[in-house]
Amino acid sequence: MGGDFSRRLRIPTAHRDTTAVLGGAYPFLTDRPALAGIFIGHDTVTGQRFCFDPWQLYQRQTVSNTNIAIIGNIGWGKTNTAMAIALRGIASGYHVIIPGDPKNDWTRLAEALGGQSLRLGPGMPERLNPLDLGAPACGGDGRGWRHQAEQRRGALIVSLVETLAPSLAPLHPESRETLTAAVEVACRDNATATLHHLVTALAAEGGEYAAPIRAALSELCSGPLSGMLDRPATTTPDPTAPIIAVGTAAVADNDLAHTLAVLTATSQLDAVAGPGRKFIIFDEAWRILATPTHLARVNAELRLSRARGTSTILITHALSDTDKAANAGTSAAATARGLVALCDTRIIFRQAPGETDRTATELALTNHEREALAALGKGEALWKTGTETRRVRTDLGTVEAALFNTDAHTSE
Ligand SMILES: Nc1ncnc2c1ncn2[C@@H]1O[C@H](COP(=O)(O)OP(=O)(O)O)[C@@H](O)[C@H]1O
Ligand SMILES: [Mg+2]
Repeated sequence: MGGDFSRRLRIPTAHRDTTAVLGGAYPFLTDRPALAGIFIGHDTVTGQRFCFDPWQLYQRQTVSNTNIAIIGNIGWGKTNTAMAIALRGIASGYHVIIPGDPKNDWTRLAEALGGQSLRLGPGMPERLNPLDLGAPACGGDGRGWRHQAEQRRGALIVSLVETLAPSLAPLHPESRETLTAAVEVACRDNATATLHHLVTALAAEGGEYAAPIRAALSELCSGPLSGMLDRPATTTPDPTAPIIAVGTAAVADNDLAHTLAVLTATSQLDAVAGPGRKFIIFDEAWRILATPTHLARVNAELRLSRARGTSTILITHALSDTDKAANAGTSAAATARGLVALCDTRIIFRQAPGETDRTATELALTNHEREALAALGKGEALWKTGTETRRVRTDLGTVEAALFNTDAHTSE
């Protein structure tokens, strides 16, 4: 039924009619062709070119925010479509940031495009140091920058402690003060302070508040997690790079290590956030949905996107991924469910068996859209921008298809 329906919907490219007539016959057809923005592919109902730009759509009030949710079962083309948006967005002058990439798909793309790639994990040659402040953007106000950078670093260290020792979360004001003081000491006494210096400063501080924090952070300095975040950085994020990808495949099997790596990367990539439009891409975002600290960050990021000129792209398998946050408590589950509501562009690929009903209900799909969803081919998706829906196949050039090859080296 689904396949027949899809064939019936498809009309020859040469077919001509007024859009009003077609609108009745083909329920997806919106009266405006989408020809402005980044080229994506073609509308498989009308045959028209399809272009997309979240900032332009926002300016035209087609969407109420610039964020994008890409939802679909494994293997139907989510990552390839996000890569097409990223690559072609770079050609339009936008920057692309991937704070965590559990399959290292994006680090290979970043390398091929002359961007910056970093692969994190214990024993990996590349490292970030959570105590680094980063560098002010050219022409920036040094003092204002320093204050902000210290705030950002303080918030990161608090999240690392809370992630390592959930029983301490939310960290007491007294504990935060102790931690801030110890960070100051470590950074004052060492040219390149590391977590080892911070642990030493906390040990010297002593006291009831310092001890549990010290114990938590010590876990990063010895044992299986050491070597990832406790040494001087090998690099700092480069604000001029068109694309920065942080590969986390080496820690993909370890939820705690993965969370710590992505938290650090997100915070430090925030520091390079200069002016200009950016896509911030969370591929395999189900990992984020399961972790309260990440959830809170992504939630804030989505809410701030308009003010910051960013467009966050959340890529997930299914809406039921948000249920994973339920283990973390009801408020986390509610936040997770709310994330999709903060993405006014939804790109919906074929769903896993059993997920179509839920997707159709939660995203208020019409019957026609629901049937089309079940018949989508590879690389084809329903693009819902605000109230408009189109059925679009992402067209890839041969060079792009080779560059985006997500089948090779799934883990490194
Ligand atoms: N638009 C497309 N055109 C042609 N092939 C595609 C397209 N999108 C994806 N593919 C192919 O489908 C496979 C899975 O794509 P991928 O983007 O990794 O899916 P997902 O991220 O949804 O798991 C890859 O082999 C890719 O080459
Ligand atoms: Mg993928």
